[in-house]
Amino acid sequence: MNSPRLPFSILCVDDEPPILSVLRKLLEEDYYVYTALNGLEALNILNDHEIAVALVDQKMPNMTGIELLTKIKDLYPNTVRIILTAHTEVHDLVDSINVGEIFRHINKPWEADVLADCIREAVQKFEHHRAIIKHKDEYEKLATEKADLEREIVLLKSEIEKEYSLDNIVSISPEMNNVRRLINAASLSDETVLVQGESGTGKELVARAIHYNSKRHHKKFLAVDCGALTETLLEGELFGHKKGAFTGAVQDQKGLIEDAVGGTVFLDEISNTSLSLQAKLLRVIQEKEIRRVGETQYRQVDVRIIAATNKDLLEEVQKQTFRMDLYYRLNVLNVLLPALRDRRSDIPLLINHIISEYNQKSEKKIKSISRDALNLLSSLPWNGNIRELKNIINRMIIFAHAEHLDIHDIPDEIRTGGVVSTQNSHVADASGFNFSVSAPKTMDELEKEYISFILSKTSSNKAEAAKLLGLKRTTLIMRMKKLGL
Ligand SMILES: Nc1ncnc2c1ncn2[C@@H]1O[C@H](COP(=O)(O)OP(=O)(O)OP(=O)(O)O)[C@@H](O)[C@H]1O
Ligand SMILES: [Mg+2]
Repeated sequence: MNSPRLPFSILCVDDEPPILSVLRKLLEEDYYVYTALNGLEALNILNDHEIAVALVDQKMPNMTGIELLTKIKDLYPNTVRIILTAHTEVHDLVDSINVGEIFRHINKPWEADVLADCIREAVQKFEHHRAIIKHKDEYEKLATEKADLEREIVLLKSEIEKEYSLDNIVSISPEMNNVRRLINAASLSDETVLVQGESGTGKELVARAIHYNSKRHHKKFLAVDCGALTETLLEGELFGHKKGAFTGAVQDQKGLIEDAVGGTVFLDEISNTSLSLQAKLLRVIQEKEIRRVGETQYRQVDVRIIAATNKDLLEEVQKQTFRMDLYYRLNVLNVLLPALRDRRSDIPLLINHIISEYNQKSEKKIKSISRDALNLLSSLPWNGNIRELKNIINRMIIFAHAEHLDIHDIPDEIRTGGVVSTQNSHVADASGFNFSVSAPKTMDELEKEYISFILSKTSSNKAEAAKLLGLKRTTLIMRMKKLGL
């Protein structure tokens, strides 16, 4: 017995109405049946409905069955095509049938069983074909989505790399020029780096800049704050564990170091590690191997370590809270970040950078900041360094009533915090500096603007300008050349 195949539609085309009614009777129990008396009528039906099988009589006025089926093949290639012919005609049609345009031919008069079997097979072919098309569509959709995602990943990666490029370390001071040189050197090497500096001086920014400018930039940069976890948790986090190593270790788990293989691990606040963990870290650096908690064998890992601390590590070594051998292994390359109060010439540029960063992200746009505000901000102690500067500027922007930041936008406790003595440190002189921040500027543009302003103040006396900027005369000339001044 045939199973009901009602979801499928069959189109019968014959110029003789009695034949059409016989076909309808035969098929309508199992299929939706459409009938047409000629080619044009048939094409109209095909235009409006999805037809699984077209059963077409060859001999019709105006358009023959083969002509109609050829059109159907072009317009509705999924419809399976069957021709009804008188026995004598078959010979002439062999060619058309052979090129595969037509699924079967049925001789008139037909036997009911033969016709029913033929239609059933044609419907199966249609169903099969439709499934393939559906899969192909899904496959193509997935392939497009995959390609889109891959493009997005490449884009995101390049954005991250741009974000952590040297260009995003905003500075003009000679102290930071030295840091830039060190970052460059550290990016070219694969040695361990120790970044030291007070809180908020940009230690993580430097570590990321080194990683994203190094040959490891395609692999992960993973940061871990060694001060934020207990010793046991930190060890598990870094090295991973074996199933059953402790309560709750329900499965083998790799640690952050293994996860970063090929890339860089940033150990923030390294001075907060215990002596026993320090011994394990030494092994990572020296032998390039780790042991998951609860395991006996070591695993090889290729990671670069960049460590940071806001303490004087050598002092910790003297106090015997930090291993001397680890200190020397970490200290192969040393980047010492100066406190912001020791490089005040960077402050106006940083403020500009922070404002344009804010402008890019928010609806509210700040267009300028007054000379008085800038001078006061440039003279504060900034014990929390750039992080504190960033917080204060963002706070000022949020509460500002206008597009212009002024001295009264500086929070009271900061303003009355007193202007510090600026002897011994280069003070940024922002007077008259045109500090418009309507459009985001590149570091080069900013630097050019700043140097031009200082030159205009010294009537183009380079020696004097260099002194004001805290640069060597030759360095200033080099910068001017590079900036096209
Ligand atoms: N030279 C710089 N140019 C632009 N942004 C900077 C610079 N230095 C630091 N920043 C920004 O200041 C903030 C603090 O920097 P970062 O987190 O790297 O400092 P940190 O030394 O790791 O601080 P902490 O000791 O508090 O962890 C970040 O938002 C960083 O992007
Ligand atoms: Mg940090």
